[in-house]
Amino acid sequence: MAELSVNHLLGIKELTRDDIELIFETADHFKEVINRPIKKVPSLRDFTIANLFFENSTRTRTSFELAQKRLSADVVNFSSSTSSVKKGETLIDTANNILAMKVDMVVMRHASVGAPHFLSKYVDANILNAGDGTHEHPTQALLDSYSIRERLGQVEGKKVCIFGDILHSRVALSNIFALQKQGAEVMVCGPNSLLPKYIQDLGVKVELDVKKALEWCDVANILRIQLERQGGDISYFPSLREYSQYFGINKELLDSLDKEIVLMHPGPINRGIEVTTDVIDSENGIVLDQVENGVAVRMAVLYLLAQKRKGLSLG
Ligand code: CP
Repeated sequence: MAELSVNHLLGIKELTRDDIELIFETADHFKEVINRPIKKVPSLRDFTIANLFFENSTRTRTSFELAQKRLSADVVNFSSSTSSVKKGETLIDTANNILAMKVDMVVMRHASVGAPHFLSKYVDANILNAGDGTHEHPTQALLDSYSIRERLGQVEGKKVCIFGDILHSRVALSNIFALQKQGAEVMVCGPNSLLPKYIQDLGVKVELDVKKALEWCDVANILRIQLERQGGDISYFPSLREYSQYFGINKELLDSLDKEIVLMHPGPINRGIEVTTDVIDSENGIVLDQVENGVAVRMAVLYLLAQKRKGLSLG
């Protein structure tokens, strides 16, 4: 029986290509399940999962919770804004108190790079990274690649350009690792000030001209400007208006190409800044497919980690 090479989902960096393919094959099964009239399976009936979100989330948190409930797990939700973290409790104390209640898995989003890696060393539960600072967001990259595979048949050989605020993006880094492991070519495009200095070391192409990048790619993954990670100030470019003018993707740009490209966005979308509404809501946009696939992909990851822990079988 095929199983993951890892006990935790800390990042895409730690996964093998076989792991990614196994996750996708398992997600295919769960996608069929969640489109049935009865969307629930008993696979994780004996599992308790804690969702620890120390940062805001709409999609990831809802998607994980739905995935856990579709698998029949018991779910406990924790939000730092209403917890004793506000009274000064440490991460390890918070986690250990939750684990004392016999939790098998922890899904964690945290503003600090490496927080889930730290937790995985000190607690006896499977840890799933739901985003750690500017580092990785592995389930987002998995659902992104799964959605490309669904729309274009395969990821291998495709040209994917990631547009926007690469410097502050955990989605970008996880996508770069995931796409390269599957044999895609990766480009990044954005203002120089929003590209990390080490970007060339990751083996990606770099393009500062949006039109040239669009001409090159089969898939455009458009990221938002992450003002909350820029200290709330616009200090990396003169104004949002100027950013939109030089780096925003609009219909005029797409109409100037002699081909169609797939348009993705991890959300939340800043409509009219990084992309216009007519473009992202067009039939080439797959944003809601990404969200739907997120549930199936997260079910697959939870299931496969649980399988490794307790020897389940899909049946
Ligand atoms: N894509 C994503 O991580 O969205 P949320 O911040 O809403 O979870």
